[in-house]
Amino acid sequence: MLSAQDMQEAAAHGRAVKAVYVYEAPVRLWHWVNALAISVLALTGWFIASPLPSQPGEASANFLMGYVRFTHFAAGYVLLAGFLGRIYWAFVGNHHARQLFVLPLLNAGWWKEVLFELRWYLFLERDPKKYVGHNPLAQLAMFGLFLTTLLFMIVTGFALYGEGAQAGSWSHALFTSWVIPLFGQSQDVHTWHHVGLWVMLFFVMLHVYAALREDIMSRQSLVSTMLSGWRMFKDDKP
Ligand code: HEM
Ligand code: HEM
Repeated sequence: MLSAQDMQEAAAHGRAVKAVYVYEAPVRLWHWVNALAISVLALTGWFIASPLPSQPGEASANFLMGYVRFTHFAAGYVLLAGFLGRIYWAFVGNHHARQLFVLPLLNAGWWKEVLFELRWYLFLERDPKKYVGHNPLAQLAMFGLFLTTLLFMIVTGFALYGEGAQAGSWSHALFTSWVIPLFGQSQDVHTWHHVGLWVMLFFVMLHVYAALREDIMSRQSLVSTMLSGWRMFKDDKP
């Protein structure tokens, strides 16, 4: 059987390819667990920043914000564990598993295709190009907007978490000890962690719009590819 790379080459040489296995199960599983964790983090983070009104009575009977914070931290751990698993899979998985982490920045042809995709998204091109993995513009956004923000949120999130976990905890030793002094003080880290929420939501809005739009307009499967792993091409043109 041809590998995905062989198929891509076949497609590049003008031979029609109907379906290619692209995203392996660990990448797909990570994608949806990561999306769920980020949704939970965004919602609970929003409430941590703008808490619900305090309730009268015993504190022990009013632990709602405590549960909100606990859910945020638990989702934070899920996010970190998933990300470590995803990094591992970039080493052992197929070459599409590395696309998120490695950009061909010195390849002029790749930059040309970034511009082409931009024009296509702006409705300035009529004929969509086909890609077995991510299209170059998507890859750029996944690296520049998503991956960097994810790293930033994990580092600042665990720096804040380490303040509560206190000196001696792993999060304090690994993150709090240098991140808080780097930003100046704890409140600055809160503010930048909060800004990160909006950058992440900006990516998610663009990303979901683009995934649905491409699924409809580019004559190749997108959303079902992240479910089944297979990219289907809907016409004979490679
Ligand atoms: C918090 C929400 C989400 C985040 C942070 C996110 C992030 C990502 C990332 C980082 C990738 C690249 C995967 C890799 O190379 O390992 C990706 C791929 C993809 N995502 Fe999402 N995603 C989210 C939600 C969604 C939703 C709701 C959909 C469906 C409508 C979706 C559809 C896709 C598709 C189709 C791909 C593959 C694109 C391609 O084949 O080039 N994502 N996503
Ligand atoms: C995409 C990921 C994340 C988003 C969108 C997010 C969002 C937020 C937001 C909006 C806040 C409120 C900031 C403020 O205005 O004070 C917050 C607070 C916080 N986040 Fe995150 N966060 C994320 C990841 C993480 C991770 C991975 C951790 C690690 C456990 C974490 C730990 C914390 C902590 C400790 C606080 C402060 C809680 C408090 O002061 O009560 N966050 N987060």
